[in-house]
Amino acid sequence: MIYMLDTADIEAIKKAVDLYPLAGVTTNPSIIAKANRPFADIIRDIRAAIGPDRMLHAQVMGKTAEVMIEEAQAMRELDTDIIIKVPVTPQGIKAMKALKERGIRITATAILTPQQALMAAVAGAEFLAPYVNRLDNICADGTQVAAEIAHLIDVYQLDAKVLAASFKNVQQVHEIAKAGAQSVTIAPDVFDQLLVHPLTDSGVAGFVSDWEGVYGEGTTVLDVI
Ligand code: E4P
Repeated sequence: MIYMLDTADIEAIKKAVDLYPLAGVTTNPSIIAKANRPFADIIRDIRAAIGPDRMLHAQVMGKTAEVMIEEAQAMRELDTDIIIKVPVTPQGIKAMKALKERGIRITATAILTPQQALMAAVAGAEFLAPYVNRLDNICADGTQVAAEIAHLIDVYQLDAKVLAASFKNVQQVHEIAKAGAQSVTIAPDVFDQLLVHPLTDSGVAGFVSDWEGVYGEGTTVLDVI
C-alpha cells in the first residue's frame, strides 16, 4: 500500500512524515483554499516538510486544456517533481494527453466511474483517484468503483495505479485495501485512526506495568541489558 496524506496542514504533514511510512501528500483546490495562504508558499512549505523524495500532488484549475497545460508548467517551475492533478472532464483528458507527451506525471482526479478512470489511464494518467466517500454518500459503492478500476488496470495492463481518495472512516480504507487499490490518500484525522485500538493501548499499558514492577519506573531494555 502506498500511503499519502490529503492535506496542506504543514504541522500534520510533519507529524505524518515523522511517524508513518508516508509516500507523499495530495492537495485539492478546496484544501489549498482552506489554508488561505499564497499558493506558492503552500507548495514550497509542503515540499520542505516532505523532502525531495516523496510525492506532491496539486491540481489545475483551468477550464480549458490549454490553460491546464500552462498551469502545469507553472507548477513545475515551482516544484520540478510535482504531480499534476487533472479532473476527468473532456478538457482534462485532452490536457492529460498533452502533459503525458511532455513527460509530466499526472493524477486523474474527481473520478466517480470506472470508465472515467479507464480513459484517464489510456490518456496517460499515472494515478487514478476515485472519491470513495462521495460515492458512498449517494448510495453508490465507492469500494466497488475502486475495485473495478483496479480490475481494468489489470485487464488492460495499464501503467496506472488506483489512488483511492475521499475517506471519512477507517472501514472505508480497509475495504479499499481489500479491493486491491495500490494507493490511498487520507486526511490526517482518519489517517491517525488507522492505528487506534483500545486493546492495543491496554496491552501496551499492561506490558509497561509488569516491566516497571520488576525493573523500575521509566526503565527500558537499555537499562537492563
Ligand atoms: C482527492 O483527490 C481529493 O482531494 C479528496 O480526497 C476528496 O476528499 P473529500 O471528499 O473528503 O473532499
